[in-house]
Amino acid sequence: MNDFIIAPSILSADFARLGEEVDNVLKAGADIIHFDVMDNHYVPNLTIGPMVCKALRKHGVTADIDVHLMVKPVDRMIGDFIEAGASIITFHPEASEHIDRSLQMIRDGGCKAGLVFNPATPLHYLKHVMDKVDMILLMSVNPGFGGQSFIPSTLDKLREARALIDASGYNIRLEVDGGVSEKNIAEIARAGADTFVAGSAIFGKDDYKSVIDLMRNELAS
Ligand code: DX5
Ligand code: ZN
Repeated sequence: MNDFIIAPSILSADFARLGEEVDNVLKAGADIIHFDVMDNHYVPNLTIGPMVCKALRKHGVTADIDVHLMVKPVDRMIGDFIEAGASIITFHPEASEHIDRSLQMIRDGGCKAGLVFNPATPLHYLKHVMDKVDMILLMSVNPGFGGQSFIPSTLDKLREARALIDASGYNIRLEVDGGVSEKNIAEIARAGADTFVAGSAIFGKDDYKSVIDLMRNELAS
């Protein structure tokens, strides 16, 4: 994997042509696909589930699929997404009754596991499970919708998460999700992120390659 990972969120793709959209964004240089699962309970919106993940695999998508569960309860969806071909599964700790068990279920299913933190959710949930996470995802908007503005206090939280990861010695990716674009990606990387979700900033443009190239140039600067 690249040092920096660009993960387009298909939430902003054209769902009527989803397979083609995923093929095009991967061809344009995306590293992995970010897959937002919303249940109209944990978040006030409803999106896609394991059947759509399975359909993308059947369509021929071989890239990693990064499943972001915004659902409550969490555990029933974990097994379904493992079976559907997910590569990474992250969930919000406050939505799980048994965080350690949920993380273990994900890893036991052969996927990478991660926790997601809303802008006001403290990082202390990590304290006893650092050895069980492969990814920490910081939300830089309140979850539920694409196209919102990046919340600036996320930069301090990224620095805090980066320090925790470095002190732990574990190999953990630090992902950021919400309001990421070619305009702020360099600053977000300087705060410690290495994996960048971008929905509207990529799918809102006609030319996916030029915006992903711009992001990579910014990251190299
Ligand atoms: C929000 C989702 C995000 C969303 C990001 O709840 O988790 O992945 O698609 O969209 P943008 O990049 O448009 O803020
Ligand atoms: Zn997401």
